[in-house]
Amino acid sequence: MSDYAWWQEAVFYQIYPRSFADGNGDGIGDFEGMIGALDYLQDLGIDAVWLSPHYPSPQVDCGYDVSDYTGVAPEYGTLGDFKAFLAGAHARGIRVILDMVLNHTSDQHPWFLASRSSRDNPFRNWYVWRDGRIGPHGERLPPNNWEAAFTGSAWEYDPVTDQYYYHYFLKEQPDLNWRNPQVRQAMWDAVRFWLDLGVDGFRLDAVGTIFEDPDFRDHESEMGLAEIWQAMAVAPPGDVVAREALQECWRKLFARQVDLPEVHDLMKELRCVVDEYPDCMLVGESDDIAFYGNGSDELHLVFNFPLMRTERLTPPFVRANQAERLGALPPGAWPCNTLGNHDSPRVWSHFGDGVHDRELAQLSLALILTLKGTPFLYYGEEIGMENRPPDDLSQFRDTLALRIYDLAVERGLGDAGAFHIARQMTRDSYRTPMQWRNAPNAGFCPAEIAPWLPVHSNYARGVNVEDQMGDAGSLWRFYQEMLRLRKQCRALRTGEYEPLLPDHEDCLVFLRTAPSEQCLVVLNFSDQTHVLQLDSVGTVQRVLYPSGLHTSHDLGALEVAPFGIYIAQVARNCSDEERPK
Ligand code: GLC
Ligand code: CA
Repeated sequence: MSDYAWWQEAVFYQIYPRSFADGNGDGIGDFEGMIGALDYLQDLGIDAVWLSPHYPSPQVDCGYDVSDYTGVAPEYGTLGDFKAFLAGAHARGIRVILDMVLNHTSDQHPWFLASRSSRDNPFRNWYVWRDGRIGPHGERLPPNNWEAAFTGSAWEYDPVTDQYYYHYFLKEQPDLNWRNPQVRQAMWDAVRFWLDLGVDGFRLDAVGTIFEDPDFRDHESEMGLAEIWQAMAVAPPGDVVAREALQECWRKLFARQVDLPEVHDLMKELRCVVDEYPDCMLVGESDDIAFYGNGSDELHLVFNFPLMRTERLTPPFVRANQAERLGALPPGAWPCNTLGNHDSPRVWSHFGDGVHDRELAQLSLALILTLKGTPFLYYGEEIGMENRPPDDLSQFRDTLALRIYDLAVERGLGDAGAFHIARQMTRDSYRTPMQWRNAPNAGFCPAEIAPWLPVHSNYARGVNVEDQMGDAGSLWRFYQEMLRLRKQCRALRTGEYEPLLPDHEDCLVFLRTAPSEQCLVVLNFSDQTHVLQLDSVGTVQRVLYPSGLHTSHDLGALEVAPFGIYIAQVARNCSDEERPK
C-alpha cells in the first residue's frame, strides 16, 4: 500500500471525445471508438483519463454548453456505451474523471427554457436575470458594463420577459444562479449520478466564474476586451512589461465577475459530496492555489497553468515557477502540472523552435513527468501532433473564433484581416482528429467521410500512432519509455523537489527525494554540450535514462549532450550543507 492517493501518483491523459476515435465512421469521435482505444492507452502507459464533456449539447462551445447533465450526447453513443467504456477502463487499471461544467448550462437546457419562459416560472431564479437600464435618449441598455469573456456584453436581452440574462461565456451559455439552493441541489445530484456509476472524479470547468458581484457594480477598466486583445496581438512576445500591464487590465475588467471568495464555500460543499465516495478526486480549471483550501477541504488538484504560459520553457523560468508555486501551496496540497489542453496550442507547436521541435517535445515531456506533481497530458501529444489551423471560415467549429472574426470585421479589419486574427486565435487548431495511421483521414474515419475538423496532413509523414509504435526511435516510444520509467521510480512519483545548480542558464537540474530513494534529473534545454559538476550529490546507482547507459559514471564531470536528458537513481553521500548550490 502506498501512502499516496492514486491521483497523486497517476499520469492523466485528456481525451477530447469528438476527436479521439471514431467507432462508427461518421467523422465524429465516440464511445465505441474510445472503447476500442483502451488497449492503446494501456500500452502507452497512462493511469487515468480526463474526458472532456460527453453530455448532450448543441455543441455551440463543443460540449461545454451542456443541455443534460446526466446523459450522453447521441453522436457519442448511449449511457450503456459510457458504462462499457468505464468498465473497460477500470478493468485495465485506468481511472476516469469527467468534465463538470458548473458555471453555466446550454441555453437549450430545459432549466433555461423554463427559466426564460416567464418571470414567475419556478426556474426563473435558476439563472441570473436583471432589468436593463434606460439610456439618456430613452434607449435600452444592459444592467451594467460587464463584458463576456468570449466578446461582447455579458448580458443578453430576452424580449419574452423584457429582462437580461447574464453569461460569462457565450450568450448560448447562460450562467446558473448558484446562490439558489435548488441549483446546488440539482447539480450535486448530477455529480452523484456519475459517482454512483463509478467515475473517479471530475475536472471542474471554469471554477473561478461561478459567482459574480451580488451588487452588479460596473467594472472600472479603461480598456475593453477587444482593445486588450488588439494590444496583445501587437505587443512583442518579449515585452513582459506591456504584457503584464495588459493582463492587469484584463483582471480589472473581470474583477467583479471572477474569483469571488464565496466560491470557496461552494467548493467545500462539493468536496463533502465527493468525499461520500472513497478515493474520488477533483481538479479545478484554475491556477489559483486558493482552490486547495487548507490543503484537504477544497479541490485535490489545481493546475499549475503559469508553467505553460511562456513562449519558451527555459531552466530559469521553470525554476522560478517551481520556487513560487511549491513555496505557496498549503501543507498537504499536491501540485499538478500540464503543458497543453484543448484551450491551448499543441505542445509541439508551442514549445518548439522550428528547428529542434522533436528534441524540445521530448524535453517538455521529461519535464512534466519528473517535476513534483500529477502530470496531465493531452491526446496526440505522444505522436507530436501539431496545430492545424482551418483553411477557411467554413472549417471553423470554435464559436469563439467566429465571434472574434465578427468583432474584427466590425472594427474595420476587412475579411482577410479578420480571418487572419480568427485563424490565429481559434482553438480548432489544437482539437483536430487523432492521427491513428498513414491512411486517408489519418485512419480516424473512412476516406469518403469528412471528419468534423480537418486532419493534419503530416499523418503521412510519420505523425501517426501506427508508424510510431513500430519505430523504436519514435516520439511515441519515448513517451512510453518515460511513462514506464516514472512508474518504476518512487522518487519521481512522490519525491520532494530540490533544485541544483540554480544559476545554470541551459540545464535544469534537480533532485527528487523520497525517503527510500533519490533521483537526479538533468535536462539540457540548449544546443550545447555541458559538463556538469555534481559529485557532491552522491553516486549513481542506476541510470534510468538514457537506457543502455549502465556504467556508473562520474558525477564530477557529467557530460550532457545538446538537448540531452539524464535521469539516474543516486545514493547520497554528503550532508545537506555540502550539497552543490
Ligand atoms: C473552459 C473550457 C473551455 C470552454 C469554457 C467555457 O475554459 O476549457 O473550452 O470554452 O470553459 O465553458
Ligand atoms: Ca462517430
